Amino acid sequence: MESISMHSLRSFPLTSVRNPFGKTTTSHQCVNNMLTHATATTPPSTTTHRHTVTHKMPPEKIEVFKSLEPWVAQSILPLLKSTEQSWQPSDFLPNSSQSTDQFTTEVQILRDQSANLPDDYLVVLIGNMITEEALPTYQTVFNTFHGVNDETGASPSPWATWTRSWTAEENRHGDLLRTYLYLSGRVNMTMIERTVQNLIASGMDPGTENNPYLGFVYTSFQERATFISHGNTARLAKENGDPSLARICGIIASDEKRHENAYVKIVEKLLEVDTTTAMIAIADMMKKRITMPAYLMNDGEDPSLFSHYSTVAQRLGVYTAADYADIVEFLVVRWRLEKLEELRGEGREAQEYVCELAPRIRKLQKRSNERSSKILGQGGVEFSWIFNKKVMV
Ligand SMILES: [Fe+2]
Ligand SMILES: [Fe+2]
Repeated sequence: MESISMHSLRSFPLTSVRNPFGKTTTSHQCVNNMLTHATATTPPSTTTHRHTVTHKMPPEKIEVFKSLEPWVAQSILPLLKSTEQSWQPSDFLPNSSQSTDQFTTEVQILRDQSANLPDDYLVVLIGNMITEEALPTYQTVFNTFHGVNDETGASPSPWATWTRSWTAEENRHGDLLRTYLYLSGRVNMTMIERTVQNLIASGMDPGTENNPYLGFVYTSFQERATFISHGNTARLAKENGDPSLARICGIIASDEKRHENAYVKIVEKLLEVDTTTAMIAIADMMKKRITMPAYLMNDGEDPSLFSHYSTVAQRLGVYTAADYADIVEFLVVRWRLEKLEELRGEGREAQEYVCELAPRIRKLQKRSNERSSKILGQGGVEFSWIFNKKVMV
């Protein structure tokens, strides 16, 4: 089992950072992200918020994003799929407009296939679904980014067009997973729905500070994380005898991959037009660590719900600390950060920090694994989402 204790990760990485606009701020780490799941002896709180930091974008930085609008229209918007080209949740679900008999037969097949999904797998799938269902929060966060926000709610700006269309594509993910889980009969929908309601009401603070340089670093990382996570739930669904669910998770993963490409391209462009600011932004987000979007999830019963869900995801290999390090490494290579030559001073420090980060995370993880392997007898935790059945964490 791969595990990282709270203690070791609290001391890593630094929390005092300098933002890309030269202001030094302290950003308290959220104690719960995918790297800070608890061991049985150190239960964390799930309600710790980041220290809220907001900054206005200086006009010249807003200008950078305005000047990129034609490029976004030409190079980023084509990465979206039109509605006609897009799959819809109903393509993957029993067709309720058939005769009752035919519909019931299709539902029965779905239920037979999902009958053998293990409880721990269900917990992770539900956690992923709840994360997708909190989509209003993500659009809200997007519209905190100065220079790319949707100023009217239906702005024709390419940045705003992207955000709305991205949201529209993402909206299908929660719908599909939710309906599938509902029809499976395996889960406590009331508790899941309560968790979704609480999560949307809580929101999230990814530490992006109204700043699209930080925001697009966050989304680049996050889309890749969800691509990995849905890809792994697809693989496990197949291994557990549910090919329909494997197709569902797989099609969602392919959307996430396309979104990852878009955000990675945006940061690549920012590195091209405003190298130092973009490099410092990457280091800033990495120092804060990338929190998973649903870190404030709460079902009203388990005060460590997010931590427990993350731990099960880690144990099943759906999303792990090793994946986190791999994503950092992938981005360093994809953005060719080691090859940026013109950086000086703070930019150079940021470059060195980010380029050395993945091996540091891996080393820390190894030490933590050695420690946690000595802790025996970790118990099970009840999850309300599956009628309080116990799952090993
Ligand atoms: Fe998604
Ligand atoms: Fe996504």
